[in-house]
Amino acid sequence: MFFHNLLVFAAISASAVWNVHAHGTITGVSGANGVQGTGFGILASTPRNGALPNPFEQDTSVIRDVEIQTGQVGVCGRTKASGNNDVASQLAAASAAGLPSASTDGSVTMTLHQVNQDGAGPYTCDVSADGGNTFQAATVTQQVPGKFGLSLATATNFTLVAQMPAGMACTAGPNGDACIMRCRNPALAGPFGSCVAVTNGSGAGTASAAGTASAAVTAAAGTATAPAAADAAAKKAKAAKAKRHMVSRIAGKRSGHWLDSQ
Ligand SMILES: *[C@@H]1O[C@H](CO)[C@@H](O)[C@H](O)[C@H]1NC(C)=O
Ligand SMILES: *[C@@H]1O[C@H](CO)[C@@H](O)[C@H](O)[C@H]1NC(C)=O
Repeated sequence: MFFHNLLVFAAISASAVWNVHAHGTITGVSGANGVQGTGFGILASTPRNGALPNPFEQDTSVIRDVEIQTGQVGVCGRTKASGNNDVASQLAAASAAGLPSASTDGSVTMTLHQVNQDGAGPYTCDVSADGGNTFQAATVTQQVPGKFGLSLATATNFTLVAQMPAGMACTAGPNGDACIMRCRNPALAGPFGSCVAVTNGSGAGTASAAGTASAAVTAAAGTATAPAAADAAAKKAKAAKAKRHMVSRIAGKRSGHWLDSQ
């Protein structure tokens, strides 16, 4: 009986970690000023009409506190396609394209594209006025459906609205007027989500900049491709090593213990 439970546990755990069919990503930010932006790491070329890992998950960010705290990634996590989301360059690209603005009550309206099952809600958002050094909780006022990050929705767009704290003044980016809104779900294989750059009130970009927004962000992501590819290769090697380690532990007497280190 014990052995049976152990096997079931190992199977579920292994699928949660290795069979990563995941993901929800912020493909759009609709500014009150009419400017459209996208999340950090979003590739305009990613198709949005399917639920397979490749290519549909390629620009979803995985944003894990433990990876941020250990310095493996920045505060906006990483994507499969481009590796670490470099916060400074993503902010610069978004500012150059024109920042979508929060509405007068601080609400930021986003399109959350759920690729597949564990890209569901509820999403939690926080916001940084200082380029990612500090974050404050934002209030989600329109939520993506789901429980524990799970639902049956695939290749579906949901509106996600989060409100920044009253009086917060965005001061980051090259123009000193950007905030980073970061939203993620509680999926075990994630958390999944994205960061987006926004501004509050005046100083916002103009609607005419909207068309160039996603192009500029994509271009910035493209310049990061070479180091990102090396990064991805290193991660792949590490993952393979971790998997061997896990298998040997499951086969051995300490089955289950490996989960502690996830
Ligand atoms: C969802 O939004 C993305 C861009 O944000 C768009 O490309 C896609 O067509 C939308 N999908 C649906 C089903 O509306
Ligand atoms: C927006 O920024 C200004 C400073 O430029 C600040 O005084 C104001 O409180 C902010 N508004 C909101 C809604 O956070």
